[in-house]
Amino acid sequence: MGFKITKNTKTRFNDVDWNNLRFGVYFSDHIFISKYKDGKWDDGELVPYGGMTMEPGLCTLHYGQTIFEGLKAFRRTDGNGANLFRPDMNAKRLNRSASLVCIPNYDLPRLIDGMKELVKLDNKFIPKHKGQSLYLRPVVYGSGNFLGVTASAEYTLIVMTSPVASYYAAGLNPVKIMVSDDHVRAVKGGLGAAKTAANYAASLYAGMEAHRKGFSQVLWLDGVNRKDIDEVGAMNMMFVIDGELITPSLEKGTVLAGVTRDTVLTLAHEWGMKVSERDISIDEVVDAHANGKLSEAFGTGTAAVISPVGQLTYKGKDMIINDMKIGPISQKFYDTITGIQYGEAEDKHHWNQHITF
Ligand SMILES: Cc1ncc(COP(=O)(O)O)c(C=O)c1O
Repeated sequence: MGFKITKNTKTRFNDVDWNNLRFGVYFSDHIFISKYKDGKWDDGELVPYGGMTMEPGLCTLHYGQTIFEGLKAFRRTDGNGANLFRPDMNAKRLNRSASLVCIPNYDLPRLIDGMKELVKLDNKFIPKHKGQSLYLRPVVYGSGNFLGVTASAEYTLIVMTSPVASYYAAGLNPVKIMVSDDHVRAVKGGLGAAKTAANYAASLYAGMEAHRKGFSQVLWLDGVNRKDIDEVGAMNMMFVIDGELITPSLEKGTVLAGVTRDTVLTLAHEWGMKVSERDISIDEVVDAHANGKLSEAFGTGTAAVISPVGQLTYKGKDMIINDMKIGPISQKFYDTITGIQYGEAEDKHHWNQHITF
């Protein structure tokens, strides 16, 4: 698919502190942009990254009709271009999120091609060291100007990219997580399965409270009975209990269908592990911990791939998991997935889309 490309006149490359990348601080030279008007999306084009004008009446500012995605491109260890990891999954999820907040769907092959073209054009921004990557952030928002709670008639899709550091400065450090039983993020019939701004706004208050108390994230329970585990701020949760890998099912629509979650489940099945996608209550986790059956807990997400959980605190009681050390199963998932992403391990499932430049 050919796209119109307008190149910038001055690169942003030298503004990047390549020795201190962090997350989402620097942006590359170009974006992919496409607009929806009169009932259809245009073809999309690549233009320089830069300021955009906005009217005070922009409907998204008032009513939050917006969705986003997050995925990564990895510079291959063998020097042969880059791998974009499972962009088809993110593109499909973008459309599922879109449908939940009445945003018109986008053509999937066009979006994937647009993202690949953008990575190719700005390939010098893909960091060089293993663990680092180029993060892609597609976002779609209602771009009509009006007041009134109704879906916009106009939309803008943007894909921007940002070189990001390795999530782990030194090894996979297990995190401390606070189980929230007073705040909720999503309820059945709500927007939990959508990657939409409202869910993240809803998570800020409890997230700040957790940080103040020394925890890195919040684990959300179901919004009705506050018993079943939903997910963590930006990760799906997995538990290894009595050798079985257990993760909350997606059936209730309160949890994001994580791409890393799917990757882990596919590998677990392939490795012959016992796997369950089902409701799992916090009480079951507390009991398994008390009986010595909870051997590992970890989060899965694009940012960290695997984030071992060393401590879960519920109703003021601390559960220390695997002595605050990463377990062998978490480590195996991390090594296998990152091996595939950097082109070091066989990509049996064709998860990578190879970009040459
Ligand atoms: C709420 C939420 N859950 C789970 C995830 C993990 O999803 P993925 O593995 O696709 O990054 C994310 C991150 O995108 C998230 O924001």
